[in-house]
Amino acid sequence: MKILMVCLGNICRSPLAEGIMKTKLPEDYMVDSAGTISLHEGEHPDKRAVKTAANHDIDISQQRSRPITRKDFEVFDKIYCMDIDVLDDVVSKTKNEEERQKVSLFLEVMGDRKNTEIPDPYWGDMKDFEAVFQLLDKGCEAIKNQLSK
Ligand code: 4NP
Repeated sequence: MKILMVCLGNICRSPLAEGIMKTKLPEDYMVDSAGTISLHEGEHPDKRAVKTAANHDIDISQQRSRPITRKDFEVFDKIYCMDIDVLDDVVSKTKNEEERQKVSLFLEVMGDRKNTEIPDPYWGDMKDFEAVFQLLDKGCEAIKNQLSK
C-alpha cells in the first residue's frame, strides 16, 4: 500500500502527516508527501513543523519539498489532501475515474463535517502547529484503522 499526503507548499502540513503516518504503519507501507505548488521545491520542512514533530519524537528534518507529479497518480494507492482547495487542485490533475478514486480529503474519514480541513499553520505560530499536529495525529489514526479493515 502506497500513501501520499498532499498540501499546498509541502513544508508544513503534509510533511507532518507523512512523519506521523510513518510511525503508525508497518514498514511495508510506503508513505510520502507532496505539494500542489513548487515554490518550496527542494527545501526542508518549515522549522516550526520540524520542531513540533521533534517535540513528539518524530524526525521530519530530512524531508524535501516536491510538487505532485502525474506519475504520483500511477504510483500511489491513496492520495490524502489537507484542505478543499488542495483537493480541487489534485482532482483537476486526474485523468480518469481510477485516479479520481484514489483522491480524498484527509479528514473525511473522521466523518466530522465541522473539521474537514487541516488549517494552514504557515502564517500562524507554534500553537497553531501543535494544533495541526494533534488534528493530523487523530486523522492518521483513523486512516490507519480504515486501511486495516
Ligand atoms: P503547507 O503550508 O501547505 O502546509 O506546506 C504552506 C506553506 C507555504 C505557503 C503556504 C502554505 N506559501 O504560501 O509559501
